[in-house]
Amino acid sequence: MCSPSRFRCLSAALLLLVGVSCAVYIDNEPDSQPVFGSRRHRRGRSLKQTPTADGTCGAKWAFQGALDNETYMHFFDLSGELSLQWIGDGTGVILVLTTFRVPLIVTTFAQSKLYRSKDYGKTFQDITSRIDHTYIRTEFGMAVGPENSGKVILVADVSGSTSSSGGRIFRSSDFAETFNSTDLPFHPLVSMTYNPENSKYLLMLSVDFGLWISKDFGTSWKEIHHSVCSVKWGTGNTIHFTTIANNSCKADFRLMTLKRTSDFGQTFQVLKERVHSFGLWGRFLLASVVEEDKIKRKIHVSQDQGDKWNVAQLPSVTYEQFYSVLAASDDMVFIHVDDEGDTGCGTIYTSDDRGIIYSKSLDRHLYTTTGGDTDFTNVTSLRGVFITSVLSEDNSIQSVITFDQGGEWSPLRKPDKAKCDSTAKDKEQCSLHIHAQYSISQKLQVPMPPLSEPNAVGIVIAHGSVGGAVSVSPPAVYLSDDGGYSWRQVLDGPHHYAILDSGGLIVAVEQSDELVNTIKFSTDEGQCWFYYNFTNEPFIFTGLASEPGALSLNVTVWGYQPGFLRHVWKSYTIDFAHLLRKDCVEQDYILWLAHSTDPGALLDGCVLGYKEQYYRLHKSSMCRNGRDYTVSKVHSPCNCTLDDYMCDFGYYRKENDSVCIEQPELIGHELDLCVYGEEEKLATKGYRKIPGDKCVDGLQYGRVEIDTLKKCMNIEVATSSSSSIPAILSVVFVMLVAIIAVVLIIKKYVCGGRFLVHRYSVLQQNMDAQSDDQLDTGIGQPDRGCGFHDDSDEDLLE
Ligand SMILES: *[C@@H]1O[C@H](CO)[C@@H](O)[C@H](O)[C@H]1NC(C)=O
Ligand SMILES: *[C@@H]1O[C@H](CO)[C@@H](O)[C@H](O)[C@H]1NC(C)=O
Ligand SMILES: *[C@@H]1O[C@H](CO)[C@@H](O)[C@H](O)[C@H]1NC(C)=O
Ligand SMILES: *[C@@H]1O[C@H](CO)[C@@H](O)[C@H](O)[C@H]1NC(C)=O
Ligand SMILES: *[C@@H]1O[C@H](CO)[C@@H](O)[C@H](O)[C@H]1NC(C)=O
Ligand SMILES: *[C@@H]1O[C@H](CO)[C@@H](O)[C@H](O)[C@H]1NC(C)=O
Ligand SMILES: *[C@@H]1O[C@H](CO)[C@@H](O)[C@H](O)[C@H]1NC(C)=O
Ligand SMILES: *[C@@H]1O[C@H](CO)[C@@H](O)[C@H](O)[C@H]1NC(C)=O
Repeated sequence: MCSPSRFRCLSAALLLLVGVSCAVYIDNEPDSQPVFGSRRHRRGRSLKQTPTADGTCGAKWAFQGALDNETYMHFFDLSGELSLQWIGDGTGVILVLTTFRVPLIVTTFAQSKLYRSKDYGKTFQDITSRIDHTYIRTEFGMAVGPENSGKVILVADVSGSTSSSGGRIFRSSDFAETFNSTDLPFHPLVSMTYNPENSKYLLMLSVDFGLWISKDFGTSWKEIHHSVCSVKWGTGNTIHFTTIANNSCKADFRLMTLKRTSDFGQTFQVLKERVHSFGLWGRFLLASVVEEDKIKRKIHVSQDQGDKWNVAQLPSVTYEQFYSVLAASDDMVFIHVDDEGDTGCGTIYTSDDRGIIYSKSLDRHLYTTTGGDTDFTNVTSLRGVFITSVLSEDNSIQSVITFDQGGEWSPLRKPDKAKCDSTAKDKEQCSLHIHAQYSISQKLQVPMPPLSEPNAVGIVIAHGSVGGAVSVSPPAVYLSDDGGYSWRQVLDGPHHYAILDSGGLIVAVEQSDELVNTIKFSTDEGQCWFYYNFTNEPFIFTGLASEPGALSLNVTVWGYQPGFLRHVWKSYTIDFAHLLRKDCVEQDYILWLAHSTDPGALLDGCVLGYKEQYYRLHKSSMCRNGRDYTVSKVHSPCNCTLDDYMCDFGYYRKENDSVCIEQPELIGHELDLCVYGEEEKLATKGYRKIPGDKCVDGLQYGRVEIDTLKKCMNIEVATSSSSSIPAILSVVFVMLVAIIAVVLIIKKYVCGGRFLVHRYSVLQQNMDAQSDDQLDTGIGQPDRGCGFHDDSDEDLLE
């Protein structure tokens, strides 16, 4: 069905000259689009673009003088790898670790330096002496405690030292001001994890798979279990972990036991046997469990930390397939189920509020096994919006967007006046395609994935191209100010971008092979751009860093001066506070109805049963939201319609139809669903409220679950499919296991992890001579871009 994507060169010769003419080929029928969602089609209507204040932009360099005094430069006197970490929210404390390693004949020369800033990167102090000039291992990162605990732990590399019965850590609980060194009774395997609710409680795995805990912020450690393969904090003080009978955690295919302790290892409960992998997402504990036949796996779900389990009504997978939780909120989860065969794509399902019943949301969803790359992106600036990519019938990659949490997916609207590129069959009809993680993994010229911030309402910035499919030409930067309904090209060519001051300020630096000294910024959501030369000595630009959370007005431009013998890191921090001097007042904000596609209609703006109006900054307002800014909105419920319901167990929707009908195979059968291992007889009208839906009145469907004592039958049903063939027929099991190529089973989509996004920002950049090539994702990659053989997965996924 799905087969690997084929990149074809329209002209290889031209490509070598300019590096732009290799396009993802497209020759599809206009209607051979992916199967879109199971909830009803709602046609989007164009949103008016707010025009510029007076239709013109001011002088490009108008603010050069004003910012000159607000730019701070710092040299770092060690080249090598650099990683950066913010400590706490609103503290302005940044730790920078530079590491340098050269393998020599007998030994390895390794040196690291630690720098600390307490003013958002304007000045840095070398604090390497506070950790006794010990070499710090970058791969363990700088483990920063939750919230504003001020806790930091660095893992030292003491492998060379003779007296090492264990590793050594440096601990700080005052925002990296001072460090105490502690010797560990074991060698750490992975970085440590803090209990999110109590930063004194720490977990670590040792290289011999022991599970170690500390209850006093790393002063003393105790091994509570051996043969532990993975571990996670649950809510409160519970610890979930998997164990294996013999130390073979590294084996590709493992049958593990999922255990739990709530008293730091005094007692253990066995939660599940035959577990392949597990994960915790909000109130959902998910485990993929190997069936008796040792071939198939199924997802089991618990909502109470593992006491009661249900089997998720999802297709089971074999060795060579995988499940992946793409995103999860407290209401529901998005799960990707890999298709059979190594196709690079699969199907997205959305769950009900219990994580048991699933609706098919999107077919042919692109997700490659080897790299683990998917374009799935939660647009955090507007509720219910997600963007991802599908592999179309002709194997080109196309972007799709949903505005109602996976109910319906559609192509992204073409920006007004934009011309379709060579990937479009019809020069008039095409759409916008977004570059995300997959393009980055394929080394296209895409420096950043799409960017959105919850406090910059409606704003989405992304690299893209306008045509029939994702193109390998260098992309431009597009911006949407209404959460993805309408788009505008705002910058030419690839850029790094950042959102500052809750969307009041957007900054960008062009990614090019040339030396850079200009940063671009916009105070009106990308309509007008001003330029500022932050230095007279252009340098090789590697990235932008600003405090996570987008509240800051300080941004740091990172890069290095190309040197004769060695490169040296350099940072320029620009404080835009002097540009946006005035605080915003009430008149600077306007009321904006989110998701408005049909102004005036009763249900305009209703998504998942309610509409929201936001106070947003007027584009022409040049003022400062400030650090204390919080999004303010007006919430109003909508009347229920069929769109507010998903199909219940045993029902499905025909394409373009919102009525749920019973699966013919099940008519006349008792509808039995195993819930908590006992049978519930369903008396359902076929509908179930979509999780998180807050509609009132209007259409109401009751649902009664009657306990009976009949034999529990667990039928294989992919529920509420939108396909016209009932899903029950399409779930066919092939018992042949060809190649065991499982890489991930349940893999959290890291960028979707709230904790990661808000607390950690790691800028990892390589700049030693060898890695120079990796810095620019530039033109010198012709074989990556289009040398794929038509039928070889290896080439594509490599
Ligand atoms: C920048 O600083 C210098 C010296 O502190 C001062 O003379 C000059 O007026 C400042 N320029 C601006 C635009 O504030
Ligand atoms: C470091 O050691 C000092 C003196 O022993 C102690 O007062 C301080 O609390 C320790 N800091 C940490 C983070 O353990
Ligand atoms: C692991 O232990 C099981 C029994 O607990 C045994 O059957 C299996 O052969 C062992 N595997 C290895 C790799 O030692
Ligand atoms: C998407 O992001 C928003 C904002 O951060 C978050 O509230 C929501 O839970 C996320 N949704 C999912 C399904 O992860
Ligand atoms: C900024 O730098 C560029 C070269 O990097 C130069 O062409 C331009 O004139 C400079 N602008 C100002 C205002 O100095
Ligand atoms: C920018 O940095 C300065 C310290 O240099 C800090 O006082 C200020 O609060 C920062 N601005 C924002 C908006 O974070
Ligand atoms: C909901 O429907 C009722 C009639 O059933 C109507 O009076 C009311 O105005 C509707 N409310 C909304 C918010 O549409
Ligand atoms: C569903 O609607 C789309 C767009 O209106 C149309 O192209 C497609 O043919 C319809 N499918 C069916 C089965 O009616």
